[in-house]
Amino acid sequence: MTGIVDAPPAFTPAKSLLKDGDHSPAQVLATLDLADRLKAQRRAGTETPGLMGKNVALVFEKASTRTRSAFEVALRDQGGAGVYFDSTSSHMGSGESVEDTAKVLGRMFDGIAYRGFDQTDVEQLAEFSGIPVWNALTDQWHPTQALADLMTMRESAARGFGDMSVCFIGDSSDNVARSLMVSAASLGVDVRIASPAGYQPDDRTIAMSEEAAKASGGSVTVTADIDTAIDGVDFLYTDVWLSMGEKESLWEERITALRPYRIDESVIDATRNPHVKFMHCLPSFHDRATTIGRAAFEKYGLDGIEVSDHVFRSDHSIVFEQAENRLHTIKALMIESLSPRSVTGSQA
Ligand code: CP
Ligand code: NVA
Repeated sequence: MTGIVDAPPAFTPAKSLLKDGDHSPAQVLATLDLADRLKAQRRAGTETPGLMGKNVALVFEKASTRTRSAFEVALRDQGGAGVYFDSTSSHMGSGESVEDTAKVLGRMFDGIAYRGFDQTDVEQLAEFSGIPVWNALTDQWHPTQALADLMTMRESAARGFGDMSVCFIGDSSDNVARSLMVSAASLGVDVRIASPAGYQPDDRTIAMSEEAAKASGGSVTVTADIDTAIDGVDFLYTDVWLSMGEKESLWEERITALRPYRIDESVIDATRNPHVKFMHCLPSFHDRATTIGRAAFEKYGLDGIEVSDHVFRSDHSIVFEQAENRLHTIKALMIESLSPRSVTGSQA
């Protein structure tokens, strides 16, 4: 006789995403597959709401264009609702502890998207709220970015992750690089990091990536030698050289250290792959249209900091595909965490 204890679970339990590696490679692939289907449905006008009645708190302590938009539009598309808190409009951190805030949000919302500084804050939100929490960027990790990056790579390459290579160039100690490194390695990608000493990922992240690559059949190379790292690579990836929350006074030393790792046409040529794609999480200082971009030109003669405007706007660039895919992947992530439908396959 099949008793209630023997019955298979109707759906995978709701899951937070606090950092890369929290979800198994199979779960990540399921999220990417669902994101592909949701993208096609949105284009065809056949999307059906899977987040009806779900309320999500969007707690953002740093600025955002893409991530906030992705969460809010995904919720609207799927029949749910988001409540946005910026750094001054909730008590968290100044007038109320993260623990107490988490306990309150957990009683009113179905999920929390959190963008902030230290990773311990997002971990505490998950621990004390009792509801799924998605890391929308901390100083250490940017896992929802990595989901969009992987979706874009698969879409662009039209082949499996085991047959792809990506090289992150620049400040590889930052959140975007670390998330890409662990997530791509766990799906079997040939991951290369090209950064000078002092800007490479920490030993723990390298060890996490190497362990993930060992299990997936991928590989991880960390080197200061850009020419070796980019040889024959499919995707070149970079990010800003100074992340949100870092002191502006660090610009000078960053530009001095990372200038040899700036992506321009000569780097594209040196890959020896005419089809190489350029990736960037955005926002980017690729021209003089921002205050910082203008200052870099006036002070250092750099027209475009981490990447030249020419490469950014070239046919190699897939940066706006990446940006759009933030929406589809974040939508898939929320549906998988909050709705049992996707696990039974009825979402397709
Ligand atoms: N890539 C990214 O996270 O962009 P936003 O800071 O605009 O959300
Ligand atoms: N490394 C950047 C990413 C922005 C999306 C930052 O943290 O500011």
